[in-house]
Amino acid sequence: MLTKILSMASVGLKSERVEVEVNVAEKGFPGFSIVGLSGKSVDETRERVKTAIINSDIEFPTAKITVNLAPADLTKDGSAYDLPVAMGIITAIGEINLPKDKAYFYGELSLDGSLHHTKGVFLLALLAKEEGIKNIFVPRMSANEASVIEGVNVYPVDNLKSLIRHLRGEKMIDALKPIDIAEILNDITPEFDFSEILGQNQAKRALEIAAAGGHNIFMMGPPGSGKTMLARAMAGILPNLTEKESLEVTKIYSLTGNIPPGGSLIRQRPFRAPHHTTSQIGLIGGGSSPHPGEISLAHRGVLFCDEFPEFNRNALEALRQPLEDGHVCISRAAGSITFPAQFMLVAAANPCPCGHLGDPKKECKCSAHQILNYQKKLSGPIMDRIDLHLTVPAVDVNNLMIDKEKASGEKSMEIKKRVNEARKIQSERFKKLSHIHSNSDMRNSHLKEFAKLSDEANLLLKQAVNKFALSARSYFRLIKVSRTIADLDKSEIIKEFHVAEALQYRTRELS
Ligand SMILES: Nc1ncnc2c1ncn2[C@@H]1O[C@H](COP(=O)(O)OP(=O)(O)OP(=O)(O)O)[C@@H](O)[C@H]1O
Ligand SMILES: [Mg+2]
Ligand SMILES: [Zn+2]
Repeated sequence: MLTKILSMASVGLKSERVEVEVNVAEKGFPGFSIVGLSGKSVDETRERVKTAIINSDIEFPTAKITVNLAPADLTKDGSAYDLPVAMGIITAIGEINLPKDKAYFYGELSLDGSLHHTKGVFLLALLAKEEGIKNIFVPRMSANEASVIEGVNVYPVDNLKSLIRHLRGEKMIDALKPIDIAEILNDITPEFDFSEILGQNQAKRALEIAAAGGHNIFMMGPPGSGKTMLARAMAGILPNLTEKESLEVTKIYSLTGNIPPGGSLIRQRPFRAPHHTTSQIGLIGGGSSPHPGEISLAHRGVLFCDEFPEFNRNALEALRQPLEDGHVCISRAAGSITFPAQFMLVAAANPCPCGHLGDPKKECKCSAHQILNYQKKLSGPIMDRIDLHLTVPAVDVNNLMIDKEKASGEKSMEIKKRVNEARKIQSERFKKLSHIHSNSDMRNSHLKEFAKLSDEANLLLKQAVNKFALSARSYFRLIKVSRTIADLDKSEIIKEFHVAEALQYRTRELS
């Protein structure tokens, strides 16, 4: 007998319906073959399905079993087809009847018949909604991902046995109650609170501006000056994710299996801190069946590159295109795949290999050649894409401890409130432009409409351009940063002192 079960495959972030056809023929040589599934997934699926069925007290048929995953031209791999293949076999031998309404089946089986947390369930729910298919059967551990999608009944399945009982009408599985997005918590507890960092007021302010406008920021300073601490504290002042952003981020996290078992929608802005030894593929994405890299996992959030010059040179070069475009194209034999990568780059570095170049207290021990080589990595096109350049001086922490109260400054929560308010102004400003979320996303052509300068501000800007011979790119970045500073000040018009502050964060060109 022939049965058809619906399931899903994803190409990049796009999901498509897959029909799992199962034929069990009494005649012919007994066997179990799967076509349409790539590589080693075939053998693995076959083994898991067979053993799981036997361990669920169903007699595995001694017959010729042929499974076909259609369409054939779609690459399908992974373990999520275990459940639909098993359901197809059990249905074909007459042990159960499929539900009257069309349904999707998706999930990895373990040998004892229970279902494992499986990546991609969120994308399955989106596909079901798009196709008007009401019911989906997925592993219980992954079901919360799906239950934020309205209008889809999500059946959490513990194991094959319970699903069989459900389909026989013996003991029903209750569909999950839909989860209200607004009820999922937004806040994270970062490693450090801003108030734990003494002094460093300029750096704190610059990070606030970066968070408010989504600007890339670069911090340079000697060892121990607190760069890593500052960057990590930044996770606590990032603006809340909007619902739309949440859905975008969750898609990427579900696809890559980065949602923990039982987890649901991602509500916190991503903060990724890949180690400098991360490969180019790990950072940018790629591979034979292309997967997103760190820059896509940082989508709508922060990519923190500590010890920036230590990163592989090719990897740094490959950051250029996504920094400009907000997405990354990965080409492969069968066309190219695009992953979103609209992230804020936060980079930190020492001024030279030993770290003490320009330090009044300690001598730099590097040779001129070493310094040149090191700084070469930091120059050029990547640095041109960074809006805020900051020098983080070493502070005497013992000295600051004397008046700790004064030196600690505001708590992260206070700063975050201002950041959120500035983002609200930006959402209102860009509400008709769906691809622009923050000031840093603006194209130069938008500046005329959205970044109006007072006469004095305009004059200061012109003077700065002439005096420091700013490139066109720097000029536009300066205006965008000024726009954010004015937003934090709740001023629609950009004033002279907003531009003056923005100029402080172009130290690279001004030195
Ligand atoms: N302003 C500060 N307030 C409180 N503690 C500080 C401050 N600056 C540095 N520290 C302390 O010094 C430690 C080292 O700081 P951190 O690792 O952030 O420095 P860094 O600039 O990243 O150094 P490196 O260049 O070596 O990576 C911190 O963990 C913290 O304990
Ligand atoms: Mg550090
Ligand atoms: Zn040095």
